[in-house]
Amino acid sequence: MTGRIAEMGPSAVTGRIVVTRRIPEAGMALLWAEPGVEVEVLEEAQDRGPHRDRLLEAVAAADVLLCLLTEVVDRELLSAGRGLRGVSQMAVGVDNVDVPAATELGIPVGHTPGLLTDTTADLAWALLMATARHIPQAHQYQVEGRYRIWGPELFTGADLSPGGSGRRKVLGIVGFGRIGQAVARRSVGFDMEVVAHDPRNRERVEEAPGVRWAGLDELLESSDFVSLHTPLTPETHHLIGERELRRMKPSAILVNTARGPVVDETALVRALEEGWIAGAGLDVYEEEPHMAAGLAHLPNVVLLPHIGSASGDTRGRMARMAAMNALAFLRGEAGPHTVNPQVYATLAYGRRQSDRRHG
Ligand code: DGY
Repeated sequence: MTGRIAEMGPSAVTGRIVVTRRIPEAGMALLWAEPGVEVEVLEEAQDRGPHRDRLLEAVAAADVLLCLLTEVVDRELLSAGRGLRGVSQMAVGVDNVDVPAATELGIPVGHTPGLLTDTTADLAWALLMATARHIPQAHQYQVEGRYRIWGPELFTGADLSPGGSGRRKVLGIVGFGRIGQAVARRSVGFDMEVVAHDPRNRERVEEAPGVRWAGLDELLESSDFVSLHTPLTPETHHLIGERELRRMKPSAILVNTARGPVVDETALVRALEEGWIAGAGLDVYEEEPHMAAGLAHLPNVVLLPHIGSASGDTRGRMARMAAMNALAFLRGEAGPHTVNPQVYATLAYGRRQSDRRHG
């Protein structure tokens, strides 16, 4: 679908923004409000992305690409965008974008940090509770009419609070950025001990009230619950593999709302089948939307379709931020949130801006 170009004022921003898949109205409205901006939405449906060939073709005529984390924004795609002056992604994580290639080509990459912190931290807790207390399984049992009589051992799970044992439970947080910190703050109501590990943010961990720094092995060995909040980078790919899973307590629960490839999913299936750990709550997968063989049939998992930031308000704010980044790029300005701000000082960036002015 191509939007209209309405009447333009003298200093109005002009150009073409290609949106890979329709984003929430709050963001679309911002784009449509710019009379000189032509907006092309490649896919209106919510359940599929644009075909790669279509994307390559569209990006060749785009000034700015507004994309989602489902698109592979690699060197090939970036190079196809000869006139591209920015990529704006409606997500905080940009592991689907080849950021070094974008920087080399003079293309700023925008994202949406800060807006989804609380919503994602809430979901991590929801997964933690749902997995520890078997909520989806119990719900299923109830709606199927299998509840005949109260039972002393029906769906017995694990306490988050000192609860029955009186022992404070240990919550291990791997990755202590905004979301990891927000997860830690929520633990106060459960009277938990919190340990955290994040080599890039050690000081932040040490300064956080009620949080103790731990090396990864120590964290895994001592935690009742381990929640992952690290971005996906070459260093964090398979950060949790067989070795790490074997270090966890057999009663422990693993929660992943970060990125799937942080966990070796095949090793996780074995860990769950063979009782190295007690359960897992996952919102993300190694090869989304697919899951490792066997995962979906395990009784001790709660599986969600990557909905960490999915509240209406948060998705609306993310869409607005993505639109604001896109419009800034179109104006030749620095985006409010650029992953690779060093790009603005490069010759390649300057060349793209002047090609646009003179082309
Ligand atoms: C992100 O923003 O990176 C989430 O995974 C989707 O909201």
